[in-house]
Amino acid sequence: MERLLIRNARVATMSGAQREPGHAPLGLIEDGAVACEGERIVYAGPTAGAPEGESIDAGGRLLTPGFVDPHTHLVFAGDRAHEHALRLAGASYLQIAEAGGGIRSTVRSTRAASDEELLRSAQGRLRRLARSGVTTVEVKTGYGLSIAEELRQLRIARDLGREAGCEVVPTLLGLHAVPEGVERAHWVAQVIEELTPEAARLGARGCDVFLEQGAFNAAECRAALIAGMRAGLAGHIHADQLSSGGGALLAAELGCASADHLEHTPPDALEAMARAGTTAVLLPLASWFLRQKAASAQPFLEAGVPVALGSNINPGSQPIESVSLLLAAGCLLTGLSPAQALWACTAGGARALRLDDRGVLRAGLRADLTLFSTRDPDHLPYHAGIEHSALVIRGGRIVHDARPFSDC
Ligand code: NIG
Repeated sequence: MERLLIRNARVATMSGAQREPGHAPLGLIEDGAVACEGERIVYAGPTAGAPEGESIDAGGRLLTPGFVDPHTHLVFAGDRAHEHALRLAGASYLQIAEAGGGIRSTVRSTRAASDEELLRSAQGRLRRLARSGVTTVEVKTGYGLSIAEELRQLRIARDLGREAGCEVVPTLLGLHAVPEGVERAHWVAQVIEELTPEAARLGARGCDVFLEQGAFNAAECRAALIAGMRAGLAGHIHADQLSSGGGALLAAELGCASADHLEHTPPDALEAMARAGTTAVLLPLASWFLRQKAASAQPFLEAGVPVALGSNINPGSQPIESVSLLLAAGCLLTGLSPAQALWACTAGGARALRLDDRGVLRAGLRADLTLFSTRDPDHLPYHAGIEHSALVIRGGRIVHDARPFSDC
């Protein structure tokens, strides 16, 4: 079995409580070590107590769990830069969608692309995330919007994970938009009765819906989520993004793994989310890109709801591929501290996907680790726009190595 030992690191175990101040959420072990055997961590503690053997000297640099990005739409073709320009000139996301742009425009480009083109472009995006320290990434369908095209997107998402240094968690997002020329009730019924069981069989691990004016209503979303969760999929909702539509409350009521976006969530939903164990996935880069006010993290933390940060990479509301900018937006726009934002990108992301084998550094969990070029966790969202990962390890194997270390 392959062995790997990193010693003399500032080990951020993520064992602290997220809502605590300062560096407390990180559960730091100074002069710490992590030892891996095969795909698992066998030791996380002081260097002095680590197993003997050949090792990597981290020189006091920051070692965290591999990042978990719980919300992306990575498989798509085309771009929507012209919509960005329209929004900058005053058009809204909904107006553009109503005029035939938005999600439906990406559906047209995605359907026209070959499997090879979709796979290659998504691999590029995934590789860039993996190099930045992301070891697990959720990937949604939702740009196919027919049974055959949604299943094609799902297969591509699944295959994507086979080659990259990153595990892909595929999610079915059949209720993303009503397909052009299809009656909405017909599409909702097809998603529930045909697509969901087939997607679960093909390897989907989550199901998602877009509950919003101009997308789907609460009754449609409830029915699709119940079908997905009965098929064994973890439930997620695009909730309260552009208006307050009861998405966060529905997520809590159904026991969804996460409610995502949450820019317009009313305060009474937060306690329900805390009781249900539903994670809040905040997507501040999308708020920035759409020039909306981002969700504030503090009310969720105060209510006892874990907060995750997702990149939400997609061609419409958020095309920026940068982990350090995500951390910066988590701090500047949602109000997380640097340590809380790091927790959100690791332990938070894992909870949002209900993956209890990662996101924290502890013996027995997956050996997914990122060693950064800096010693100071506060540097990551501060020197944003450059990526700081020096060594990325997934399942005990080095998948990205940018040594020799260079400090910023
Ligand atoms: O999470 N809101 C719905 N889905 C995406 C946007 C997709 C698109 O505009 O293509 C989101 O922001």
